[in-house]
Parts: sequence; C-alpha cells; structure tokens
Amino acid sequence: MRVGVLTGGGDCPGLNAVIRASVRRGISDYGYEFVGFRDGWRGPLEGVTMPLDIAAVRGILPRGGTILGSSRTNPIKVEGGIERIERNLKDLGIDALIAIGGEDTLGVATKLTEHGFHVVGVPKTIDNDLSATDYTFGFDTAVTIATEAIDRLHTTAESHHRILICEVMGRHAGWIALHAGMAGGANGILIPEVPFDMDEVVGWVESRFKASYAPIICVSEGALPAGGNLVTKDQTLDAFGHVKLSGIGEWLATEIEARTGYEARTTVLGHIQRGGTPTPFDRVLATRFGLNAIEAVKDGDWGKMVALSGTDIVRVPLEAATGVLKTVPIERYVEASAFFG
Ligand code: F6P
Repeated sequence: MRVGVLTGGGDCPGLNAVIRASVRRGISDYGYEFVGFRDGWRGPLEGVTMPLDIAAVRGILPRGGTILGSSRTNPIKVEGGIERIERNLKDLGIDALIAIGGEDTLGVATKLTEHGFHVVGVPKTIDNDLSATDYTFGFDTAVTIATEAIDRLHTTAESHHRILICEVMGRHAGWIALHAGMAGGANGILIPEVPFDMDEVVGWVESRFKASYAPIICVSEGALPAGGNLVTKDQTLDAFGHVKLSGIGEWLATEIEARTGYEARTTVLGHIQRGGTPTPFDRVLATRFGLNAIEAVKDGDWGKMVALSGTDIVRVPLEAATGVLKTVPIERYVEASAFFG
C-alpha cells in the first residue's frame, strides 16, 4: 500500500507529530510506503512530492510547522483541478491519502471522496472551530502562548495605569480569546459570536480602574462591534475566499482612549500563536490522531476523519467536520463574563 500525506491551510503546532505517528506505525506495523505531498493541495495538483520514510520523521515530534510545507491552494478553483489530482495520484501509485487540515483542506478531501478516492482526514486548526471533534491540536499551544502574553501584559499595564488590549487569532470562533482570556484573568473578552457594545466595554474599563487595577481586554481578530463591520487589513481574498483579519485591537484602543481619556495600547499576537513547539497536550493528541488515521487506512474506512470525543479517538464522516463550524456557545461566554469589569 502506498499512502500519500499532505498538510494544508494555516500551519499548526502538532502537524509533524501526526505525520511521524502515521509514518512510524504504517511502516513498522503494516509495511506501507509513504509519499509526502508538498504544500497542501499544491502537491497532488502539481505532482510535487518528497520522500517520507522513518529517517524523514526522526526528531520532528517537538518541532512546530510542518516538514511537508503548507499552502492555501484550492484545487476546486483550478480548472480541471480535481481531475488533475486524480491523474497525479494514479500516476504516483497512491492507494490512499491522509489529508491533515482545517475546514478548507477537509472540504477538498470530501470532494475527492465523492469522486471515489480513498481519503482519511485529520482535523487541525489553532482556532478549535471544527465540528465533530472536541479539540483540535494546536489550540492548546495557542492558548498557552496567549495566556503567557496576558500574564505579562497585566504587570506592565498596572505600572503605567493604561489599558492593554491583546488581539488573538480566531476568525469565526472565539475559542482562543475565551480560554486565554479566562486563564489570564482578562477584564473583558470579545469574540466573533457576540457582537460587543462599546458602552459596555467602556464600563468594564472604568470599573477596573476604580478597583485600582489596569484593564486587560482580550479580543478575537474576528470580533466586531454591534451594528458595525469586521475590521480587516485589506480586502484581498485567499483561494478559499477569506479576507486577512487583524485590526480590531487597534480600532478598540482608539475608541477606548477617545471615550475614557485613559491611554490604551494594543498587542497583536498574530503568528506567534501558531509557531514553535507544541504543548505536551497537543503532541499527545496529534500523535493519537496520526496513529488512528493509519488504522483507518488499514481498515479501508475511507471518507472518515479521526476526532476526539471525550478522551476517545473516534471516526466521523468527513462532511461532519466541514458542514457547520463549532462556535462558542453563548452559555460559555456568559460564564466567562462573571469576571468582566
Ligand atoms: O484558520 C486559522 C488561522 O490561524 C486564523 O485564526 C487566522 O485568521 C488565519 O489562520 C490566518 O492565516 P494566514 O496567516 O495563513 O493568513
């Protein structure tokens, strides 16, 4: 059996742990051969591969990024893209493909499955917004990094009696802001699911200063003011139709300063949340996903995605992962709001 592996979309700490686990078990226990596809769907689309054997995966468990490279190439947007992939996979003698990615990458995997190709999916995103899995690897690492940043912002905010805003990733779902904000004791958390009321945010800031502390606001890049628009960097779209986010933190600082007279500054964590070594939780989850993905290949369980359910790894239909996004339920936001202001 020849198994292709690819990693698509925004990278995520833990991708290498998945690759290592699938390759190690696949070769040692089942005698499979592996082919690494470069840069997400660009690999199968253009037939760009790299060797993927035991030597290639040695030492990569703690390494961030992906040894295969990643991209947001969308073959569905390319004329005859799916047919080209099918031809290349056939020419390379690929019997099965493990696609590691988020909603976009797995959406393409679902399409390939409909065309009869043998695909197994592995969910990944630091945003933790994929349905059908309780957690995705990369999320714990991002939250750990953002929490440490908030801890550091507290002390400098208090020294200078200013408001510090921490902008974190989270395009459609506020999981990173919710968890890092709770863990870091932020005085306000703003997420895409709950458009915020500027008067309320000003109220939190003022009450925090009254208590002789300096306010910290943790905001998702996708958060937006009630009745207002998403703040974007520019209007250019990637191949999956996403705009570049970031800017809400700066917007908030300007508004808060204008309304309260207190100085406000913003720290945008950006790609720092996605880079570097995965936490132990993410290494274990990614490793278990990798081991279970190769089991699904062995069982011929095509069109499935491995997922975390409680503490078990289960298999779910690929389309269950990509159909609806897993957003923050309002009860979770209300729970966190006990500490706002
Ligand atoms: O989808 C994951 C994510 O990290 C989002 O939170 C963020 O908006 C996006 O990727 C940024 O992606 P890139 O840096 O690849 O444009």
